[in-house]
Amino acid sequence: MSKKWIAVPLALCVAAGLVMLCGEATAQKTKGKTRGAATKYLMRGIQQPNCAGLAELLKDKGPADDKAWDAAACRASCLNEMSYLLMDDGRCPDAVWAGAATNLREGSAAVLAAAEKKDVDAAREAFKKVTGACAACHKEHKK
Ligand code: HEC
Repeated sequence: MSKKWIAVPLALCVAAGLVMLCGEATAQKTKGKTRGAATKYLMRGIQQPNCAGLAELLKDKGPADDKAWDAAACRASCLNEMSYLLMDDGRCPDAVWAGAATNLREGSAAVLAAAEKKDVDAAREAFKKVTGACAACHKEHKK
């Protein structure tokens, strides 16, 4: 029997499967599969205030005292945890999203390490990777 008999239906199934996968992926960007929080609320409630708060703390001479460094560590920790939340519950649609989440995770972990050492230059350098991650994911996935 010719191989065409199996190849044609197989190709159709693969195509249909891809359409289904893509449709599902689009839906998952705005909300996970089972949990309640919409992506926009995680962004508005956790991502944005911690990113802006960290930027504020790192400007000029950087965190002024122990309390300010502790606040920076708190901000970096929340951003770090967001990198895991964004990958949970079937929310991630593709490699761009996953790559941005990885950069958010690595950048915020490096800010946290720098905050523990009170190294403002290292914190600023690491923070660039965080804001780069926001921009990369938004370019592809935020309407
Ligand atoms: C892995 C992907 C991804 C990363 C990383 C990411 N975002 Fe988002 N962000 C989104 C998506 C998707 C939306 C649009 C959500 C929607 O409208 O349903 C969004 C929307 C937003 C919004 C608008 C929320 C609203 O009220 O509608 C803000 C603010 C925001 N992001 C801030 C940030 C900041 C700051 C960072 C970096 C610290 C960041 N985001 C990193 C995916 C990401």
